[in-house]
Amino acid sequence: MMPIKKVLMTIVISSAALLVLQSTPPPVTYLVPEESPPQPLLRTGLSPDELSQVKEAQAKRLALLERECSREKGRRFGFRYPTLEQVAKRSSVVEKYHVSNCVVYKAGSSAWNGLLAHVLGRNDLIRTGEVYKMADVLRPSKSSLAEVAASPDYIRFVVAREPLSRLLSAYRDRILDISHPSWQAHHYAPLILQHARGIEYSNADLFYPNGSVRTMPTFLEFARYVADSASLSLDPHWKPVSLQCGLCLVNYTVVVHMESFLTDIRYILRESGMERDVDASLLVVNAHKGKGKTEDLLISNYATLPPEVLKKLLRLYSKDFRFFGYDPRHILEKIYPGRKNVVDSLMSVI
Ligand SMILES: *[C@@H]1O[C@H](CO)[C@@H](O)[C@H](O)[C@H]1NC(C)=O
Ligand SMILES: *[C@@H]1O[C@H](CO)[C@@H](O)[C@H](O)[C@H]1NC(C)=O
Repeated sequence: MMPIKKVLMTIVISSAALLVLQSTPPPVTYLVPEESPPQPLLRTGLSPDELSQVKEAQAKRLALLERECSREKGRRFGFRYPTLEQVAKRSSVVEKYHVSNCVVYKAGSSAWNGLLAHVLGRNDLIRTGEVYKMADVLRPSKSSLAEVAASPDYIRFVVAREPLSRLLSAYRDRILDISHPSWQAHHYAPLILQHARGIEYSNADLFYPNGSVRTMPTFLEFARYVADSASLSLDPHWKPVSLQCGLCLVNYTVVVHMESFLTDIRYILRESGMERDVDASLLVVNAHKGKGKTEDLLISNYATLPPEVLKKLLRLYSKDFRFFGYDPRHILEKIYPGRKNVVDSLMSVI
């Protein structure tokens, strides 16, 4: 094991979601996806009050998950996807600490991978900014995930994020932000434009010489493309968590919410004993976008969607809303003020 150094975690509310190295040792910056609300400083350990609050919140989240899963099992269809094999492809298992998780993009996965690279001494990946490769290093086979799922000693967690905010964040970070190279932008921008405008642009119109997207699809065009795609073929950055993580298959023991990411992660560090090996005491919160701003961004972007597109999206993410207890009503009411029938009709698909 490498000597444990202090970990500097930063919530950077700008867009990149890559691990950034700084020149002075040892600070490593883990970027938690943008637009999450300001969060408390990370200290080692949780106070007794915090601990009992986290436990209470977890008990509620797990009870909800269990309730939704038993309803799901009562239905004849809809329980076939994903299979355990597919979930294994999206999972990480850390045997040393008996922790496993389903890797959800746009919901803290880079921060968690950075932390793991650190405690598992993979300074090579930290140096090259490739901590996402931890997922390859830690990916279980189907049979080892089956063992993990049945083990009483494992913490199994999944990260949830409010679906509308996750989707907008995926658009802003993977498509709209051309300041960093993005496979998704390069691959999907032409498909989105083709779908929305029926035009095939030339490469010169589509891309700058450096490969960044020049003709940018709007959020509406992106949303329409996602809403009209076959759900199983969606990119993992915006595919519903329920279609990736096997919420009723893996027997999750902790549901992390992006909105309380750091507290929830501290709980996992504590329960797994990882806390002893990572001194996550220096957290710098760079919260230049507060909660109010985040909500405004959500409302102004989703207000550009016609109700029928929004309805398809709500249907697509309906399980993520239900299984994780996110209720979009108050956002919908702000998008359609005074139009109760529109809001009710949208809510009816969740
Ligand atoms: C799920 O995990 C809990 C806690 O470890 C355990 O009590 C329960 O028996 C497990 N259920 C299944 C179906 O494996
Ligand atoms: C590519 O070029 C465009 C236009 O000059 C610029 O705005 C963008 O930041 C560049 N992207 C990268 C990844 O260098």
